[in-house]
Amino acid sequence: MTRNEQLASLEGTFPIGYISDQSRLVFVNSRDLDRAWDLGIFYLKIPEHLNLDKARIFGCEVAAPDSDYRKIPKYGELEGFIALENNQQTKLALSRKLWGQHYPKEIADFGRQLDELGVVIMREVLREAGIPEAFWGRASGGYAAGEGTAFLNFVHYDARNPYQGLRPHTDYGFVTILDVTAPGLQVKIDGRFEDLPVLPGHLAIHFGEALNYITQHSDRSVGAVEHQVLSQKATNPIRHGIVYFGNPDLDGMLWQFDAKGESKGSSSVADLFARLEKNLTG
Ligand SMILES: [Fe+2]
Repeated sequence: MTRNEQLASLEGTFPIGYISDQSRLVFVNSRDLDRAWDLGIFYLKIPEHLNLDKARIFGCEVAAPDSDYRKIPKYGELEGFIALENNQQTKLALSRKLWGQHYPKEIADFGRQLDELGVVIMREVLREAGIPEAFWGRASGGYAAGEGTAFLNFVHYDARNPYQGLRPHTDYGFVTILDVTAPGLQVKIDGRFEDLPVLPGHLAIHFGEALNYITQHSDRSVGAVEHQVLSQKATNPIRHGIVYFGNPDLDGMLWQFDAKGESKGSSSVADLFARLEKNLTG
């Protein structure tokens, strides 16, 4: 089978990755890895040690109408308890440096577990890209070395609100980890939005724009997947979600290395994100 035939035979399915005992991201065969890299999205079997049940309960507490978490102030544009305009999504969004202040310890620890997962995924992308390991930290603005920044967000969708769940977009960072427990998420494949079915026991992983940027001159680049959330109707189960974003520092730099370790370009994160924003609105 040619590679295109192999990809065609997998049409309509999303590949599943696993975390191995050696803390590597693995797939049952190379076709699944190829498809994950081509699509920019795959399922990840939930690692046994992940404290997901507690985090799901916490997400419901956050969304309750009388929740004290609704009083957390906004920190800039991106953090705090935020209702998005013209979307159904409402979220408590906090970056890593604020987890200890606002999240219970077990939830901050859960965020650290997701950091570890994000780094494992990121390192697999950089390994496949052929970029020498000595450059991984620098290429990723520190994220692949356990730094950079990360958001752990608890979102829910207000079905009384007539807008779309979440408008079509790509994520800007490296790796997004989603706990999807209700239908509605769609991803764009060959120009068409397709449902990402809920697969119990699995997380959904997206690749973002910053990951596309730093792998562009490598042996194997990855794309950022466009996605949206359909309008949630009052008849649907209430849609909660846990979203983790593995990102570079907003005031840092990204570097594009090739497989020889030569730098082919660089950008401040702020400039890259501003260019993406312009493409989105222009
Ligand atoms: Fe997104």
